Amino acid sequence: MLSKSSYPSNVVSYKRSLPVRLAKVVLDLAHRVLPHGAYTFLYGSGRRILWVVQRLLLKMSLFSAVAVNKEKVGKLRLIDKLLPFTMGGPLALSATFDVVTIAEKDGIPGALVECGVGKGGCGAMMALVSKELGSKRILWLCDSYEGLPEPTEEDFRNGKAGEMIGPLSKGMLAHPMEQVSNLIFNECCLSKENVKIVKGWFQDTLPLVRKDIGAIAVLRLDGDWYESTKCCLENLYDGVSPRGFVIIDDYATCYGAERAVTEFMLNKRTEVALIPDGRGGVWFRKPASA
Ligand SMILES: C[S@@+](CC[C@H](N)C(=O)[O-])C[C@H]1O[C@@H](n2cnc3c(N)ncnc32)[C@H](O)[C@@H]1O
Repeated sequence: MLSKSSYPSNVVSYKRSLPVRLAKVVLDLAHRVLPHGAYTFLYGSGRRILWVVQRLLLKMSLFSAVAVNKEKVGKLRLIDKLLPFTMGGPLALSATFDVVTIAEKDGIPGALVECGVGKGGCGAMMALVSKELGSKRILWLCDSYEGLPEPTEEDFRNGKAGEMIGPLSKGMLAHPMEQVSNLIFNECCLSKENVKIVKGWFQDTLPLVRKDIGAIAVLRLDGDWYESTKCCLENLYDGVSPRGFVIIDDYATCYGAERAVTEFMLNKRTEVALIPDGRGGVWFRKPASA
């Protein structure tokens, strides 16, 4: 196996933007000096303020795009519609839009797959972009729909599971399957024929459905933890079409997710260029020959 230091730097390094680095310094300090309850309160309040600011900025850019840049309007409208249904914010939705658009334009064969669905916003984005571009791909949405499993020791560094994330534990981020179905079929009017909702732990479901999924054009991984990310890569990466896409939503925010990706790529001896989404996620294209 290649050692981490001998591996191409674009696989193991990730440069955060200045605002994110500043926020990280503040959160790290708060984590060290504040009691747990106060830190959780600060983190929650910060997220709520960020949410309002993001919403406001999005409305403003939508308003100005209508006047000057008609091409951007479609994308911004989708982001605006789906923002309440994702934890990833506008940048995760934007990256998902871009990746699926390239996959469609390049005619990459295969399904759209999201593992770690939450409320379903990014999954819905994948299917809506694809549909708007005239494609009829199958969307697979895999999740426990009962929230996160327990993290393992591989998820932690110095007692923390990641950067810019609040304390997470078993059962958190649970969104029932019915809520996701409602978004997908009622709010987004996607066809039941084109969407497969797979309920259960990745470790139980993916070995069973990977054959049915077949080729994958875009694989979006958002399961936060080491074991969850590792399991998805082990079961689904080989199915990703050459020049197909893998999005790792938690790469620079959850230590375990980054570790799972790095170990997997080291074992595969595969070089990939990670493209940051600007908020901690990355995406890359599977090499044509891998
Ligand atoms: C951060 S949320 C997903 C957020 C979502 N993609 C979005 O756009 O907001 C993480 C999700 O991963 C799921 N999850 C994590 N590990 C899992 C596992 N091993 N099996 C099944 N679901 C898992 C959780 O239930 C949760 O819905």
